[in-house]
Amino acid sequence: MRLLIHSAKQVVAITDQDVTCLPGRSMNSVVVLENTNGGVAVAVDDEGKIAAVGSTQYVRELWKYDDFDEVIDATGKCVLPGFVDAHTHPVWAGDRLDEFAMKLAGASYLEIHNAGGGIFHTVDKTVRCSSEELYQSLKDRLLKMLQAGTTTAECKTGYGLETDAELRLLQVLQRAKQQLPIEISITYCGAHAIPKGKTPEEATEIIVRDQIPQIQILMNEKLLPVENIDVFCEKGAFDTEQSRRILQAGKEIGLRINLHGDELNPMQSAEMAAELNATAVSHLEKVSTKGIEVMAMSGTVAILLPTTAYIMRLKPPPVRQLIEAGVSVALGSDFNPNAHCLAMPTVMNLACVTYGMNMPEALVAATLNAAASLGRGRTHGAIQKGRVGDLVVIKAEKWEHIIYQLGCHHHLIEFVVKYGKIV
Ligand code: NIG
Ligand code: FE
Repeated sequence: MRLLIHSAKQVVAITDQDVTCLPGRSMNSVVVLENTNGGVAVAVDDEGKIAAVGSTQYVRELWKYDDFDEVIDATGKCVLPGFVDAHTHPVWAGDRLDEFAMKLAGASYLEIHNAGGGIFHTVDKTVRCSSEELYQSLKDRLLKMLQAGTTTAECKTGYGLETDAELRLLQVLQRAKQQLPIEISITYCGAHAIPKGKTPEEATEIIVRDQIPQIQILMNEKLLPVENIDVFCEKGAFDTEQSRRILQAGKEIGLRINLHGDELNPMQSAEMAAELNATAVSHLEKVSTKGIEVMAMSGTVAILLPTTAYIMRLKPPPVRQLIEAGVSVALGSDFNPNAHCLAMPTVMNLACVTYGMNMPEALVAATLNAAASLGRGRTHGAIQKGRVGDLVVIKAEKWEHIIYQLGCHHHLIEFVVKYGKIV
């Protein structure tokens, strides 16, 4: 056996049901295990899977301490599932500090984008960097995410745009996937902006006829483990029909659909996503009532990004309406040069304070539902026998401290465990 954590004050199992993800309406309840007589224990086997969860006494009847490679005494501490970050853009060069100042002075995101800044600025900086430089900065960011409790992260390309540049970013992400202890779900987001000098139609054509077929070849040869396809469906980027074409082409080569939609303008992205049976749509500040209904029916996960809405001072998405309609709500950091946040505890705090979620909802959204948005709803995101041994141990007697103590996760998190290994 690999790891035993025993005597914990609380173990937040999230769910005791075998579900892909919790429907929105039951997000309010998380299963918190407590035991006044000796506390709660979690055991992880040699394959990195959870072998048992229960009272310390029960787990100690099954194994001796000597049976484990590592034993953690969690007296007075809490164990939570590793966080799953459902939406990040971590491969890029240069920063956008000056644009942050411009936004503080009143410039809007689309004004900066349409003037050639924003994503275009980052693309210019990124394509000039070597793969080694990009990998080193990516590694630094991913290790910081891990320290903040994220054990699985969705990672997008999108700062290459041209075919060769996008393929290079996918390869940089693949290297990180092979070499780093954080689990990565790679998303191809070549349709992040319209490359300079091209029309949206031309850009769509290149993606469908050139980029996606090249990715398919690499996937077939097992050279590239891409999982998801993304599009920025927005005015000034790809319209709904262009997005549909690109996403459909991605679906045909076996990618899960996971797009940016209905953020700054109502685009009927949610409706289009539900028709395509998309796994997830991110942002949704401008989602329609119809869009919410059809997402609930198609089981499409809503990935909410409170860092971005906070930085851009956007009106929040209709969070309560989504939850009450039965849409599974997940959270992501949206880490990118516009929203420079790597930490899910901060994201959960913002989700509570600015989006009106309660703490159990925010935790479900940052674990089980985020896992579901990456096709990992049955294997990740909860502390349950057979699921992956991805855990966070915090120095606090109640789990909610990880959300309540804004900006304090570095002081609270004592161990992060990925597949049963302390990282
Ligand atoms: O999710 N909207 C597109 N993508 C990112 C922003 C990327 C950028 O500004 O560099 C987002 O917010
Ligand atoms: Fe994004």
